[in-house]
Amino acid sequence: MMYKVQNLIRSNIIQLRPYSSARSEFSGTASVFLDANENGHDLFGEALNRYPDPLQLVVKQRIAKLKGVPIESIFLGNGSDEAIDLLFRIFCEPGVDEAITCPPTYGMYRVQADIHGTPIRHVLLTEDFQLRPQAVLEAATPNSKLLFLCSPNNPTGNLLDPTAIEFLLRNFPGIVVVDEAYIDFAEGAKSCSQHLAEFPKLVVLQTLSKAWALAGARLGMAFASAEIIHYMNAVKYPYNVGLPTQRTVLSALETGLDGSVATIIGERKKLETELAKLDLVERIYPSDANFLLVKMRDSTLIFNYLKQNGVVVRDRSREPLCEGCLRITVGTQQENDRLLELLADFNPSVIQSSNPS
Ligand SMILES: Cc1ncc(COP(=O)(O)O)c(C=O)c1O
Repeated sequence: MMYKVQNLIRSNIIQLRPYSSARSEFSGTASVFLDANENGHDLFGEALNRYPDPLQLVVKQRIAKLKGVPIESIFLGNGSDEAIDLLFRIFCEPGVDEAITCPPTYGMYRVQADIHGTPIRHVLLTEDFQLRPQAVLEAATPNSKLLFLCSPNNPTGNLLDPTAIEFLLRNFPGIVVVDEAYIDFAEGAKSCSQHLAEFPKLVVLQTLSKAWALAGARLGMAFASAEIIHYMNAVKYPYNVGLPTQRTVLSALETGLDGSVATIIGERKKLETELAKLDLVERIYPSDANFLLVKMRDSTLIFNYLKQNGVVVRDRSREPLCEGCLRITVGTQQENDRLLELLADFNPSVIQSSNPS
């Protein structure tokens, strides 16, 4: 049974009378603002005494041009994690509605489900980290409101097969969220955001935290039908993206990426080649992202050894299908060289003595 968006939204959200902020009630020109209980004195400069535009229209205009997505299909938030949170609030009645994820995948889908009291069903990826679309449909119930697909997937690094995504967009009864946080590192990959008109229940997530080097600024994007974006704006905090972030993002988008993605992809290839030469590396999974999932002979020991030497990677060895795996971010050339140097210096006899089998 396929549902329309309206039938998937919680009834209290449909009936919600959203908070109407002072700044969203006035759109003309004025020079005296006595409507928002701000401090009229610009004590610290840069007009930070005033609330920011709640709908971030100037930033959205720029992002609309960059991404080829109409403004009414864009939501901006405090990282894409905010968008994930809002989707649970809008679509999942606590304790009743369900979400589906495809592990191993980004941990926040499960955390948000737990926060919202949303039961979650896990449909494992295949051994080569691809979707099992038929199994996803079999796991779906009439209460399955959200399906999270991550492409390129974290922590595995690979793009999901677009035909499997399309199959689920056509057949999954609820909302399909395609998280494209790492899409800028996937050479030649096409964003699902170009198919919004065809799939009204599609939500695409992107972020400026990865390729755009703005993780500290906090700006995430959701692209979806105007109907879904309307509800995201109704449920969000009124001023969810601060003025410093809006300004930083505008100037960064003006400047551009300046070859940094190509540099990271080059470093990723170098890391793959160099890691493959090491005895302690069992397998390097192909990556379309800015990290590598690497199976190591004694991953926990190596994880601790790197940490003791000031290099932090992510131990993913307890994730399903990721036994013995570390997730290694592709850093700057110096960072990557330090990692390789430490791994080359690692004494393999230490691994053998801790792993007698
Ligand atoms: C797949 C995926 N989605 C979303 C996020 C969150 O990004 P943001 O910084 O925009 O909240 C991350 C961060 O690691 C991620 O890996």
